[in-house]
Amino acid sequence: MSKQIRQPGPYLYPLPVVLVTCGIGEKANLITLSWVGMLCSTPPTIGIGVRPERHSHHLIREVGEFVVNLPTAEQARQADYCGRVSGEGHDKWAACGFTRTPASQVKVPLIAECPVNLECRLRHTVPLGSHDLFIGEVVAVHIDDSLLDEQGRVDFARLSPFLYTGRDYYRLGERLAPVGFSLRG
Ligand SMILES: Cc1cc2nc3c(=O)[nH]c(=O)nc-3n(C[C@H](O)[C@H](O)[C@H](O)COP(=O)(O)O)c2cc1C
Repeated sequence: MSKQIRQPGPYLYPLPVVLVTCGIGEKANLITLSWVGMLCSTPPTIGIGVRPERHSHHLIREVGEFVVNLPTAEQARQADYCGRVSGEGHDKWAACGFTRTPASQVKVPLIAECPVNLECRLRHTVPLGSHDLFIGEVVAVHIDDSLLDEQGRVDFARLSPFLYTGRDYYRLGERLAPVGFSLRG
């Protein structure tokens, strides 16, 4: 291999693409995020990096809750749109044809059309620089039946997820191997 040394940057691509809902009532908004990660299993915790200038930023701070909705590759157009247009004075729900559905533990609505919805309560806010890290505890999980296998286990491959490389979106490719295969010879 022949490698160049580049200026430091967060080159951790590819990334997932999620639609986060925030705000309540008429103010409820959607924002597309990729600077997102699982941080802890117990309590189940997710971190999202949001720029303070985003309209969604102050809604998350104001309400102290948000919902992480996982879109399918078929919803990439809506996810791209919600990542290019601000919800300030604009209804992204109507523009995307998404339905607001009440959550079970938080006041922020979830997107009915997304097959996975993770209701989160904001536990910590860490200012990092260009982005603030919002750390949320997952307090309820909604999974569509279509993602369940014959044993009732969640199979995320059935979600038809997609990834972001910083430039383009990609569907997941072919299955490589089951976890633990390296130990099985
Ligand atoms: C694929 C993709 C990923 C994005 N990820 C982030 C992110 O992680 N954090 C962020 O602050 N903005 C991110 N954005 C930009 C926001 O989604 C965008 O500025 C959006 O219009 C803000 O909406 P709002 O003003 O309604 O909050 C992303 C955009 C795209 C298209």
